[in-house]
Amino acid sequence: MTAPRPTFNPARALAVRVLTRVLAGETFAAPALDAALAQARLPARDAGLATHVVYGTLRHAPMLEAALTPLLRGETHPRARALLLAGSFEKLVLGTPPHAVVSEYVGLARGARLAPPGLVNAVLRRVERPAESDETRYALPGWLLEVFRTSYGERAGGVLSNLLEPQPLWLSVTDAGVRSLEAEGHVVEPGPNGVDRVTLARPLRETAAYRKGQAQPINPASLAVVDALGDVAEQRVLDLAGGAGVKAAMLAARGAGVTSVDLMARKHDAARANLGRLGLRADFLTHDLTAPLDVPPALLVLLDAPCTGTGTLRSHPEIKLRLTPGAVGELAALQARMLPNAAALVQPGGLLVYSVCSVTPEEGPEVVRDFLAAHPDFVPEPVPELGVPTVPAGDGVLTVAEGGVDGFFITRLRRAGPASG
Ligand SMILES: C[S@@+](CC[C@H](N)C(=O)[O-])C[C@H]1O[C@@H](n2cnc3c(N)ncnc32)[C@H](O)[C@@H]1O
Repeated sequence: MTAPRPTFNPARALAVRVLTRVLAGETFAAPALDAALAQARLPARDAGLATHVVYGTLRHAPMLEAALTPLLRGETHPRARALLLAGSFEKLVLGTPPHAVVSEYVGLARGARLAPPGLVNAVLRRVERPAESDETRYALPGWLLEVFRTSYGERAGGVLSNLLEPQPLWLSVTDAGVRSLEAEGHVVEPGPNGVDRVTLARPLRETAAYRKGQAQPINPASLAVVDALGDVAEQRVLDLAGGAGVKAAMLAARGAGVTSVDLMARKHDAARANLGRLGLRADFLTHDLTAPLDVPPALLVLLDAPCTGTGTLRSHPEIKLRLTPGAVGELAALQARMLPNAAALVQPGGLLVYSVCSVTPEEGPEVVRDFLAAHPDFVPEPVPELGVPTVPAGDGVLTVAEGGVDGFFITRLRRAGPASG
């Protein structure tokens, strides 16, 4: 006997399960979705639908919540809430015909036992777009809208609309990697800063280019941080808060001798494995950079500090659902403790690049302003032309978060004294 065919689409069931975990704050969308897709092994089209529903629902969640709130009384089970958000996303944003949304999601609620079918039927029939305001149009709370307006000025409208679009996959690919990806039927288009925009026909990890170390995911703005260090060939570079080593990999590929420092040893394991895949190497040190680090100073030091991630809302939309103004202050305080310890590792005449993937003034320009006031031996230097658009921000620049490029604050601080070494 064959099992009866499910009366619902497994992609949507998977999307709702992932959304439930992400909305509960248990995990981030990318690892949860990767793990669920790897286990389910859905056909490429269904995997694409699940990805679209998860990220689209998260990007539009504040607007969808405003649409659902008047229709819900009392507590809604988290799984039912995730299902209603996903159904509302398809009806109100994707423009899927309302009868199709209702029938699909009622079937899902019943077949996968995710929510009371009667509730889903009643709510999805009635849900409509909430009253138009900037908060619902851009699906952001008022305080975050203000952050974007302050940081991007007249470009803020373009940035805010862009954050609601699907995020492209950015890969730094060798020429052989491009040929290999195209031969396998993937689409490779040149993007900003020499990073390619790639549309895959199957998961990245299954491509020959990835397995052979010919392709590395990196946002064009993240690569711009590496560019801000200038020529690194044959130079010793301290990569502070190096994490899973994306920038370390780019530095090593450019011929730098990299020492990567992070609080978390497990990130070193991930970085080491990735560098091995790319045929590159670096040294690793596990250290809490809120305390001084006892290693010989270097002429080139990068501090890519931990931050709120407000520059990455297009690829990590769940951040905006969790972030509070208080968290911005806490991260700014952490950055302010780490920056002097990074500065102490810069040789006289050397260069310190400070970056955060956040667009809040507190974490970028204000941390640097306060540091410079207390460290007169450092002076800000103009950031050279980068391969992505930027706007001025205090003593540095902010990359413009448009077209899938992340918003990074980047500054160059030169230590007084003759360069030697
Ligand atoms: C923005 S991420 C780094 C990304 C990395 N540079 C890259 O390009 O892949 C910030 C990193 O700071 C690390 N971190 C957080 N607090 C730290 C501390 N007190 N000392 C050292 N590293 C810390 C985190 O573990 C995280 O890996």
